[in-house]
Formats: sequence, C-alpha cells, structure tokens
Amino acid sequence: MMKRSAIALLAFAIAAGTSSLTAQTVTSGLRGPTPLNDEGPAPPMLPNRNTSEKEVRNYPEQPPVIPHSIDGYQVDLNGNKCLSCHARARTAESQAPMVSITHFMDRDGQFLGSVSPRRFFCTECHVPQNTANPPVSNDFVDIDTLLSRVSPGGRR
Ligand code: HEC
Ligand code: HEC
Repeated sequence: MMKRSAIALLAFAIAAGTSSLTAQTVTSGLRGPTPLNDEGPAPPMLPNRNTSEKEVRNYPEQPPVIPHSIDGYQVDLNGNKCLSCHARARTAESQAPMVSITHFMDRDGQFLGSVSPRRFFCTECHVPQNTANPPVSNDFVDIDTLLSRVSPGGRR
C-alpha cells in the first residue's frame, strides 16, 4: 500500500518535472539558447593555441599544458609522436623539454631506463589549449591566493 502511493507520487513528480523542463529555456552556459529538450547545432571546432609559451601551472602537481598544436599526432600501440621530440635522446635535436624524470618511474617508485608504460599515453594528463573563449566562467583560485587569505582561525 505504502509502496504504491510512493510510486504514484514519484510518477507525478517526474511528470511535473518534465513539463517544467519543456517550458524552460536556458539562455546561458554551454547550451546557449537551445531548450533543454532540443539538441543544438555543434559549435565549430577551433584550432589549438600554438604559442610555444609555457603556461603557468595552477598547482605544483599540475601536468603542464601543451603550448603547441598536436593535430594529427599519433599516440597508440604503434608509435608515440610526442616522444619523437620529448624523449631524452631527441631533445638536443628538437629543443623540446625532456619528459620529467617522474615519467621513468614504475609504480613502486623505481626508475626505469626508458619512459614507463604508465606515462605512455601523454594526453591522459597533458592537454592542448583551445583558442575559444570559455563559455562558462571559472572561479578556480590557486594555492598562493588561498594561502594569502585570512583564515577564520586568525593565521594569515
Ligand atoms: C616536433 C616536436 C614536438 C612534438 C612532436 C611534440 N612536442 Fe611538445 N614541445 C615541443 C617543444 C619544442 C616544446 C617547447 C615549447 C615550444 O617550443 O612549443 C614543447 C612543449 C611541450 C610541453 C610544455 C612543457 C612545459 O614545461 O610547459 C608539453 C606538456 C608538451 N610539449 C607535450 C607534448 C605532447 C603530449 C605531445 C604529443 C601529443 C608533444 N608535446 C609533441 C616539441 C614537440
Ligand atoms: C599520468 C599523467 C602523465 C602522463 C601519462 C604523462 N605526463 Fe608528463 N607530466 C605529468 C606531470 C604531473 C608533470 C609535472 C610534474 C613532473 O614533473 O612530474 C609532467 C611533466 C612533463 C613535462 C615537463 C618536464 C619539465 O621538466 O618541465 C613534459 C615535457 C612532459 N611531462 C611530457 C610528457 C610526454 C611527452 C608524455 C607521454 C610520453 C607524458 N608527459 C605523459 C603527468 C603526466
């Protein structure tokens, strides 16, 4: 008895929810003016930012973002285009920074002679940047700003 009325209530809530969703038009955010129950046109693909300039890291452990285009770079079972420039032996020729020494460590913290399989798929962690304006603003605060805020306990 309890169960049946709970289900009825749930069905009612869902129905009420859907009708208010159909009526609602969201005017900001990633969807733009497209109503929630419609699929809008895909935005055009924008090129990678290709400045060659180091970007600031937002926290010490952040994998640095990629400051160059990676269009068409193959990283799979058959090869790793990134390592053709970033591998230890290639950096003199490419003038690219060598992959970090941490990339030679296995999961037990032992250093291997070559890049660890754990670090093979570079774009798991390193991402190129897009030239688009962020459609949603970001209020991320970096650690230095956080540390400089007066805390409730009194310490600055
Ligand atoms: C043709 C050589 C080349 C290839 C291929 C290449 N890179 Fe680079 N990369 C560079 C050079 C040179 C720099 C230094 C900045 C610059 O000149 O663009 C760099 C910079 C970087 C940086 C910034 C390091 C820092 O300290 O800020 C990252 C991360 C990076 N590359 C990752 C990658 C990844 C991931 C790939 C593969 C998807 C890749 N690169 C492929 C040459 C290359
Ligand atoms: C599991 C995440 C992860 C993967 C996979 C990974 N990296 Fe990194 N990478 C990092 C982090 C985190 C840092 C910064 C901390 C450090 O130096 O270890 C970094 C640092 C770097 C740097 C900067 C080195 C320096 O001295 O400034 C380069 C270049 C780089 N990675 C290239 C690569 C390339 C090329 C690959 C693929 C072969 C790769 N990484 C795979 C996480 C990753």
